Amino acid sequence: MTEPAPSFSRLSTYSGIWQGIYPGKPAYLPQQYPDLTGKTAIVTGANTGIGFEVVKLLYEKNCNVIAVVRTESKGLEAREKILADVKSKGTIGVIGGCDFMDLNTIKSAATKIINVLGDNSLNIIIHNAGLMAPNSDGTSEQGYEAMFSSNVLGPQLLQHFLDDAFLKKDGDLKRIVWVSSCTHLMAFREYGINWENPTFKDVPIEKRPDHQTLYGQSKAANILQAKAWATKKADMVTDIGCVSVSCFPGILRTQLTRGWGSLTKRMISWMGYDSVYGAYSELFAALSPKLTTNDQGAYIIPFGQVGEPRTDVKAGLTNGTDLKMWDMVEDMIKPFF
Ligand SMILES: NC(=O)c1ccc[n+]([C@@H]2O[C@H](COP(=O)([O-])OP(=O)(O)OC[C@H]3O[C@@H](n4cnc5c(N)ncnc54)[C@H](OP(=O)(O)O)[C@@H]3O)[C@@H](O)[C@H]2O)c1
Repeated sequence: MTEPAPSFSRLSTYSGIWQGIYPGKPAYLPQQYPDLTGKTAIVTGANTGIGFEVVKLLYEKNCNVIAVVRTESKGLEAREKILADVKSKGTIGVIGGCDFMDLNTIKSAATKIINVLGDNSLNIIIHNAGLMAPNSDGTSEQGYEAMFSSNVLGPQLLQHFLDDAFLKKDGDLKRIVWVSSCTHLMAFREYGINWENPTFKDVPIEKRPDHQTLYGQSKAANILQAKAWATKKADMVTDIGCVSVSCFPGILRTQLTRGWGSLTKRMISWMGYDSVYGAYSELFAALSPKLTTNDQGAYIIPFGQVGEPRTDVKAGLTNGTDLKMWDMVEDMIKPFF
Protein backbone atom coordinates (compact mmCIF):
# COMPACT_ATOMS: atom_id res chain seq x y z
CA MET A 1 0.00 0.00 0.00
CA THR A 2 1.16 3.53 -0.68
CA GLU A 3 0.25 6.55 1.41
CA PRO A 4 -2.97 8.50 0.67
CA ALA A 5 -2.45 10.95 -2.17
CA PRO A 6 -1.65 14.55 -1.19
CA SER A 7 -4.28 17.08 -2.16
CA PHE A 8 -3.89 19.32 -5.16
CA SER A 9 -5.41 22.67 -5.95
CA ARG A 10 -7.76 23.46 -8.82
CA LEU A 11 -5.40 26.33 -9.61
CA SER A 12 -2.63 23.84 -10.43
CA THR A 13 -5.02 22.23 -12.91
CA TYR A 14 -5.59 25.52 -14.68
CA SER A 15 -1.90 26.42 -14.67
CA GLY A 16 -1.06 23.04 -16.19
CA ILE A 17 -3.53 23.62 -19.01
CA TRP A 18 -2.15 27.14 -19.38
CA GLN A 19 1.26 25.59 -20.12
CA GLY A 20 -0.37 23.97 -23.14
CA ILE A 21 -2.11 27.11 -24.35
CA TYR A 22 0.85 29.43 -23.81
CA PRO A 23 3.94 27.22 -23.91
CA GLY A 24 7.45 28.52 -24.05
CA LYS A 25 9.26 28.79 -27.37
CA PRO A 26 10.73 25.47 -28.58
CA ALA A 27 14.00 25.18 -26.68
CA TYR A 28 15.59 22.49 -28.78
CA LEU A 29 15.17 22.61 -32.54
CA PRO A 30 16.19 20.30 -35.40
CA GLN A 31 19.33 22.30 -36.15
CA GLN A 32 20.53 21.40 -32.63
CA TYR A 33 19.76 17.68 -32.93
CA PRO A 34 22.77 15.38 -33.28
CA ASP A 35 23.42 13.39 -36.42
CA LEU A 36 21.72 10.04 -35.86
CA THR A 37 23.57 7.94 -38.43
CA GLY A 38 23.67 4.33 -37.24
CA LYS A 39 21.04 4.91 -34.55
CA THR A 40 17.62 3.26 -34.44
CA ALA A 41 14.38 4.69 -33.07
CA ILE A 42 11.00 3.04 -32.66
CA VAL A 43 8.00 5.38 -32.90
CA THR A 44 4.44 4.13 -32.34
CA GLY A 45 1.43 5.86 -33.88
CA ALA A 46 3.78 6.96 -36.63
CA ASN A 47 1.34 7.36 -39.50
CA THR A 48 -0.17 10.69 -38.53
CA GLY A 49 -0.13 13.67 -36.16
CA ILE A 50 2.85 14.11 -33.88
CA GLY A 51 4.22 10.63 -34.60
CA PHE A 52 4.46 11.40 -38.31
CA GLU A 53 6.42 14.60 -37.61
CA VAL A 54 8.71 12.78 -35.16
CA VAL A 55 9.54 10.13 -37.77
CA LYS A 56 10.23 12.82 -40.36
CA LEU A 57 12.58 14.78 -38.10
CA LEU A 58 14.46 11.68 -36.95
CA TYR A 59 14.83 10.47 -40.53
CA GLU A 60 16.10 13.92 -41.56
CA LYS A 61 18.93 13.34 -39.08
CA ASN A 62 19.81 10.02 -40.78
CA CYS A 63 18.17 7.85 -38.14
CA ASN A 64 16.89 4.37 -38.94
CA VAL A 65 13.29 4.62 -37.84
CA ILE A 66 10.96 1.72 -37.20
CA ALA A 67 7.48 3.18 -37.61
CA VAL A 68 4.96 1.08 -35.68
CA VAL A 69 1.32 1.41 -36.75
CA ARG A 70 -1.86 -0.59 -36.53
CA THR A 71 -2.80 -0.25 -40.21
CA GLU A 72 0.16 -1.09 -42.44
CA SER A 73 -1.19 0.75 -45.50
CA LYS A 74 -1.40 4.00 -43.47
CA GLY A 75 2.20 3.52 -42.34
CA LEU A 76 3.41 2.89 -45.89
CA GLU A 77 1.56 5.96 -47.14
CA ALA A 78 3.18 8.09 -44.42
CA ARG A 79 6.60 6.68 -45.33
CA GLU A 80 6.08 7.55 -49.02
CA LYS A 81 5.23 11.12 -48.08
CA ILE A 82 8.38 11.48 -46.01
CA LEU A 83 10.64 9.82 -48.59
CA ALA A 84 9.30 12.20 -51.24
CA ASP A 85 10.14 15.17 -49.02
CA VAL A 86 13.34 14.37 -47.20
CA LYS A 87 16.83 13.29 -48.24
CA SER A 88 18.52 11.06 -45.69
CA LYS A 89 21.06 8.31 -45.17
CA GLY A 90 18.61 6.67 -42.77
CA THR A 91 15.78 4.22 -43.34
CA ILE A 92 12.11 3.95 -42.42
CA GLY A 93 10.76 0.48 -41.79
CA VAL A 94 7.02 0.08 -41.28
CA ILE A 95 5.58 -2.53 -38.93
CA GLY A 96 1.81 -2.84 -39.15
CA GLY A 97 -0.72 -4.78 -37.14
CA CYS A 98 0.19 -3.40 -33.71
CA ASP A 99 -3.24 -2.61 -32.31
CA PHE A 100 -3.31 -1.69 -28.63
CA MET A 101 -7.05 -2.36 -28.62
CA ASP A 102 -6.21 -6.03 -28.98
CA LEU A 103 -3.34 -7.17 -26.77
CA ASN A 104 -3.11 -10.39 -28.81
CA THR A 105 -1.54 -8.41 -31.68
CA ILE A 106 1.43 -6.99 -29.75
CA LYS A 107 3.68 -10.03 -29.50
CA SER A 108 3.71 -10.72 -33.24
CA ALA A 109 4.28 -7.01 -34.02
CA ALA A 110 7.16 -6.98 -31.52
CA THR A 111 8.67 -10.08 -33.11
CA LYS A 112 8.63 -8.32 -36.49
CA ILE A 113 10.25 -5.24 -34.90
CA ILE A 114 13.04 -7.35 -33.41
CA ASN A 115 13.61 -9.02 -36.80
CA VAL A 116 13.85 -5.66 -38.58
CA LEU A 117 16.18 -4.39 -35.85
CA GLY A 118 18.55 -7.34 -36.32
CA ASP A 119 21.92 -6.71 -34.67
CA ASN A 120 21.56 -2.92 -34.71
CA SER A 121 21.44 -1.08 -31.43
CA LEU A 122 18.07 0.21 -30.30
CA ASN A 123 18.52 3.78 -29.08
CA ILE A 124 15.12 5.44 -28.78
CA ILE A 125 11.60 4.21 -28.08
CA ILE A 126 8.79 6.74 -28.30
CA HIS A 127 5.46 5.43 -27.01
CA ASN A 128 3.54 8.06 -28.95
CA ALA A 129 0.40 6.21 -30.13
CA GLY A 130 -2.63 7.31 -28.18
CA LEU A 131 -6.38 7.55 -28.17
CA MET A 132 -8.55 10.36 -26.80
CA ALA A 133 -11.97 8.83 -27.31
CA PRO A 134 -14.97 11.14 -27.69
CA ASN A 135 -17.00 9.02 -25.29
CA SER A 136 -16.62 6.49 -22.48
CA ASP A 137 -18.03 3.46 -24.25
CA GLY A 138 -15.04 2.16 -26.17
CA THR A 139 -13.96 -1.30 -25.06
CA SER A 140 -10.94 -3.32 -26.19
CA GLU A 141 -10.98 -6.92 -27.44
CA GLN A 142 -10.13 -7.97 -23.90
CA GLY A 143 -13.06 -6.00 -22.43
CA TYR A 144 -10.91 -3.16 -21.10
CA GLU A 145 -11.81 0.53 -21.31
CA ALA A 146 -10.41 1.69 -24.66
CA MET A 147 -8.04 4.43 -23.50
CA PHE A 148 -6.51 2.36 -20.69
CA SER A 149 -5.88 -0.41 -23.20
CA SER A 150 -4.52 1.84 -25.97
CA ASN A 151 -2.51 4.27 -23.87
CA VAL A 152 -1.30 2.15 -20.95
CA LEU A 153 -1.61 -1.64 -21.35
CA GLY A 154 -0.48 -1.71 -24.99
CA PRO A 155 2.67 0.42 -24.54
CA GLN A 156 3.77 -1.45 -21.39
CA LEU A 157 3.28 -4.79 -23.17
CA LEU A 158 5.25 -3.59 -26.20
CA GLN A 159 8.00 -2.31 -23.89
CA HIS A 160 8.15 -5.75 -22.28
CA PHE A 161 9.06 -7.28 -25.65
CA LEU A 162 11.58 -4.53 -26.43
CA ASP A 163 13.43 -4.58 -23.10
CA ASP A 164 16.03 -7.19 -24.06
CA ALA A 165 16.96 -5.40 -27.27
CA PHE A 166 17.02 -2.00 -25.57
CA LEU A 167 18.85 -2.88 -22.37
CA LYS A 168 22.28 -3.31 -23.94
CA LYS A 169 25.40 -1.25 -23.50
CA ASP A 170 25.67 -0.56 -27.21
CA GLY A 171 25.25 3.17 -27.70
CA ASP A 172 25.66 6.65 -26.25
CA LEU A 173 21.95 7.45 -26.58
CA LYS A 174 19.26 5.40 -24.83
CA ARG A 175 15.88 7.05 -24.30
CA ILE A 176 12.29 5.99 -23.70
CA VAL A 177 9.52 8.58 -24.02
CA TRP A 178 6.04 7.83 -22.66
CA VAL A 179 3.74 10.38 -24.24
CA SER A 180 1.36 11.84 -21.66
CA SER A 181 -0.88 14.92 -21.59
CA CYS A 182 -1.90 17.89 -19.45
CA THR A 183 -5.26 16.09 -19.28
CA HIS A 184 -3.70 13.94 -16.53
CA LEU A 185 -4.72 16.94 -14.39
CA MET A 186 -8.34 15.80 -14.79
CA ALA A 187 -7.67 12.25 -13.70
CA PHE A 188 -8.95 10.49 -10.56
CA ARG A 189 -8.21 11.91 -7.12
CA GLU A 190 -5.79 9.20 -5.88
CA TYR A 191 -2.65 9.56 -8.01
CA GLY A 192 -4.85 9.78 -11.10
CA ILE A 193 -5.85 6.12 -10.99
CA ASN A 194 -9.14 4.35 -10.22
CA TRP A 195 -7.29 1.69 -8.24
CA GLU A 196 -10.22 -0.69 -7.71
CA ASN A 197 -10.79 -1.21 -11.41
CA PRO A 198 -8.76 1.07 -13.71
CA THR A 199 -9.88 -0.78 -16.85
CA PHE A 200 -13.60 -0.58 -15.95
CA LYS A 201 -13.89 -4.21 -16.98
CA ASP A 202 -17.46 -5.43 -16.54
CA VAL A 203 -18.65 -1.91 -15.65
CA PRO A 204 -21.73 -0.95 -17.71
CA ILE A 205 -20.94 1.95 -20.02
CA GLU A 206 -23.48 4.26 -18.39
CA LYS A 207 -21.70 3.76 -15.04
CA ARG A 208 -18.26 4.73 -16.38
CA PRO A 209 -16.90 8.20 -15.60
CA ASP A 210 -16.71 10.82 -18.34
CA HIS A 211 -14.20 10.28 -21.11
CA GLN A 212 -11.88 13.14 -20.07
CA THR A 213 -11.42 11.53 -16.64
CA LEU A 214 -10.65 8.22 -18.35
CA TYR A 215 -8.24 9.82 -20.84
CA GLY A 216 -6.69 11.70 -17.91
CA GLN A 217 -6.25 8.45 -15.98
CA SER A 218 -4.40 6.87 -18.90
CA LYS A 219 -2.13 9.89 -19.19
CA ALA A 220 -1.41 9.98 -15.43
CA ALA A 221 -0.47 6.31 -15.79
CA ASN A 222 2.03 7.24 -18.54
CA ILE A 223 3.80 9.60 -16.11
CA LEU A 224 3.99 6.81 -13.50
CA GLN A 225 5.19 4.29 -16.13
CA ALA A 226 8.14 6.48 -17.13
CA LYS A 227 9.58 6.45 -13.62
CA ALA A 228 8.55 2.89 -12.75
CA TRP A 229 10.31 1.42 -15.80
CA ALA A 230 13.59 3.05 -14.77
CA THR A 231 13.24 1.88 -11.16
CA LYS A 232 12.36 -1.68 -12.20
CA LYS A 233 15.50 -1.82 -14.36
CA ALA A 234 17.62 0.18 -11.91
CA ASP A 235 20.38 -2.43 -11.85
CA MET A 236 21.10 -1.71 -15.52
CA VAL A 237 19.82 1.72 -16.55
CA THR A 238 22.55 3.88 -15.06
CA ASP A 239 25.35 1.66 -16.33
CA ILE A 240 23.83 1.60 -19.82
CA GLY A 241 22.84 5.28 -19.67
CA CYS A 242 19.10 4.84 -20.27
CA VAL A 243 16.76 7.73 -19.51
CA SER A 244 12.98 7.18 -19.31
CA VAL A 245 10.74 10.26 -19.22
CA SER A 246 7.12 11.24 -19.87
CA CYS A 247 6.12 14.09 -22.17
CA PHE A 248 3.11 16.36 -22.53
CA PRO A 249 3.73 17.40 -26.15
CA GLY A 250 1.43 20.45 -26.17
CA ILE A 251 -2.01 21.26 -27.54
CA LEU A 252 -1.69 20.40 -31.19
CA ARG A 253 -3.81 20.28 -34.30
CA THR A 254 -3.81 16.55 -35.08
CA GLN A 255 -6.33 13.80 -35.66
CA LEU A 256 -6.63 13.22 -31.90
CA THR A 257 -10.05 14.88 -31.91
CA ARG A 258 -11.40 12.60 -34.65
CA GLY A 259 -14.92 11.57 -33.69
CA TRP A 260 -15.32 14.67 -31.49
CA GLY A 261 -17.99 17.34 -32.05
CA SER A 262 -17.34 20.37 -34.24
CA LEU A 263 -17.06 22.71 -31.21
CA THR A 264 -14.09 20.77 -29.75
CA LYS A 265 -12.48 20.58 -33.17
CA ARG A 266 -12.87 24.33 -33.67
CA MET A 267 -11.48 25.05 -30.19
CA ILE A 268 -8.39 22.89 -30.79
CA SER A 269 -7.83 24.36 -34.21
CA TRP A 270 -8.11 27.85 -32.67
CA MET A 271 -5.80 27.33 -29.67
CA GLY A 272 -3.71 24.39 -30.90
CA TYR A 273 -0.28 24.57 -32.51
CA ASP A 274 0.94 22.83 -35.64
CA SER A 275 1.70 19.15 -34.98
CA VAL A 276 5.42 19.64 -35.59
CA TYR A 277 5.59 21.54 -32.28
CA GLY A 278 4.52 18.35 -30.51
CA ALA A 279 7.43 16.65 -32.22
CA TYR A 280 9.77 19.33 -30.80
CA SER A 281 8.58 18.38 -27.29
CA GLU A 282 8.94 14.63 -27.87
CA LEU A 283 12.35 15.05 -29.48
CA PHE A 284 13.59 17.22 -26.63
CA ALA A 285 12.66 14.25 -24.45
CA ALA A 286 14.34 11.80 -26.82
CA LEU A 287 17.49 13.68 -27.77
CA SER A 288 18.35 16.63 -25.53
CA PRO A 289 21.71 16.27 -23.78
CA LYS A 290 20.17 18.23 -20.89
CA LEU A 291 18.46 15.01 -19.74
CA THR A 292 20.65 12.51 -17.93
CA THR A 293 20.25 9.36 -15.86
CA ASN A 294 19.45 11.69 -12.93
CA ASP A 295 16.21 12.64 -14.70
CA GLN A 296 14.37 9.30 -14.63
CA GLY A 297 10.63 9.98 -14.68
CA ALA A 298 10.99 13.67 -15.57
CA TYR A 299 7.81 15.21 -16.99
CA ILE A 300 8.59 17.15 -20.15
CA ILE A 301 6.24 19.99 -21.08
CA PRO A 302 5.84 21.96 -24.32
CA PHE A 303 7.87 22.66 -26.28
CA GLY A 304 10.87 21.10 -24.58
CA GLN A 305 11.37 21.86 -20.90
CA VAL A 306 11.16 19.94 -17.65
CA GLY A 307 7.89 20.59 -15.81
CA GLU A 308 5.96 19.14 -12.91
CA PRO A 309 2.90 16.89 -13.02
CA ARG A 310 -0.05 17.25 -10.64
CA THR A 311 1.04 17.27 -6.98
CA ASP A 312 -0.26 13.76 -6.18
CA VAL A 313 1.12 12.23 -9.38
CA LYS A 314 4.47 13.88 -8.64
CA ALA A 315 4.41 12.37 -5.13
CA GLY A 316 3.57 9.01 -6.69
CA LEU A 317 6.91 9.05 -8.49
CA THR A 318 8.83 8.82 -5.22
CA ASN A 319 6.59 6.96 -2.77
CA GLY A 320 6.18 3.68 -4.64
CA THR A 321 2.83 4.44 -6.29
CA ASP A 322 4.47 4.26 -9.71
CA LEU A 323 5.66 0.72 -8.97
CA LYS A 324 2.24 -0.26 -7.64
CA MET A 325 0.69 0.92 -10.91
CA TRP A 326 3.37 -0.84 -12.99
CA ASP A 327 2.83 -4.13 -11.15
CA MET A 328 -0.94 -3.89 -11.48
CA VAL A 329 -0.60 -3.40 -15.25
CA GLU A 330 1.98 -6.19 -15.41
CA ASP A 331 -0.56 -8.60 -13.92
CA MET A 332 -3.06 -7.64 -16.62
CA ILE A 333 -0.65 -8.03 -19.55
CA LYS A 334 1.18 -11.20 -18.39
CA PRO A 335 -1.25 -13.51 -20.24
CA PHE A 336 -0.02 -11.89 -23.48
CA PHE A 337 3.74 -12.38 -22.90
N1 LIG B 1 -2.78 16.51 -30.06
C1 LIG B 1 -2.73 16.98 -28.82
O1 LIG B 1 -3.14 18.12 -28.54
C2 LIG B 1 -2.15 16.12 -27.72
C3 LIG B 1 -2.09 16.68 -26.44
C4 LIG B 1 -1.55 15.92 -25.41
C5 LIG B 1 -1.10 14.65 -25.67
N2 LIG B 1 -1.19 14.11 -26.93
C6 LIG B 1 -0.72 12.73 -27.14
O2 LIG B 1 0.14 12.70 -28.25
C7 LIG B 1 0.13 11.38 -28.82
C8 LIG B 1 -0.05 11.48 -30.32
O3 LIG B 1 -1.34 11.99 -30.58
P1 LIG B 1 -1.71 12.90 -31.84
O4 LIG B 1 -2.19 14.18 -31.30
O5 LIG B 1 -0.65 12.88 -32.86
O6 LIG B 1 -3.02 12.12 -32.34
P2 LIG B 1 -3.39 11.41 -33.72
O7 LIG B 1 -3.12 12.32 -34.86
O8 LIG B 1 -4.77 10.92 -33.52
O9 LIG B 1 -2.38 10.17 -33.78
C9 LIG B 1 -2.53 9.10 -32.88
C10 LIG B 1 -1.76 7.90 -33.38
O10 LIG B 1 -1.95 6.85 -32.43
C11 LIG B 1 -2.43 5.70 -33.12
N3 LIG B 1 -3.32 4.90 -32.28
C12 LIG B 1 -4.46 5.29 -31.66
N4 LIG B 1 -5.01 4.25 -31.01
C13 LIG B 1 -4.23 3.17 -31.25
C14 LIG B 1 -4.28 1.80 -30.90
N5 LIG B 1 -5.29 1.31 -30.18
N6 LIG B 1 -3.30 0.98 -31.32
C15 LIG B 1 -2.28 1.44 -32.06
N7 LIG B 1 -2.18 2.73 -32.45
C16 LIG B 1 -3.14 3.59 -32.06
C17 LIG B 1 -3.19 6.26 -34.32
O11 LIG B 1 -3.33 5.24 -35.32
P3 LIG B 1 -4.53 5.29 -36.37
O12 LIG B 1 -4.27 6.45 -37.28
O13 LIG B 1 -4.48 3.96 -37.05
O14 LIG B 1 -5.78 5.47 -35.57
C18 LIG B 1 -2.26 7.39 -34.74
O15 LIG B 1 -1.18 6.87 -35.45
C19 LIG B 1 -1.00 10.62 -28.11
O16 LIG B 1 -0.44 9.77 -27.12
C20 LIG B 1 -1.82 11.74 -27.46
O17 LIG B 1 -2.49 11.27 -26.31
C21 LIG B 1 -1.70 14.84 -27.96
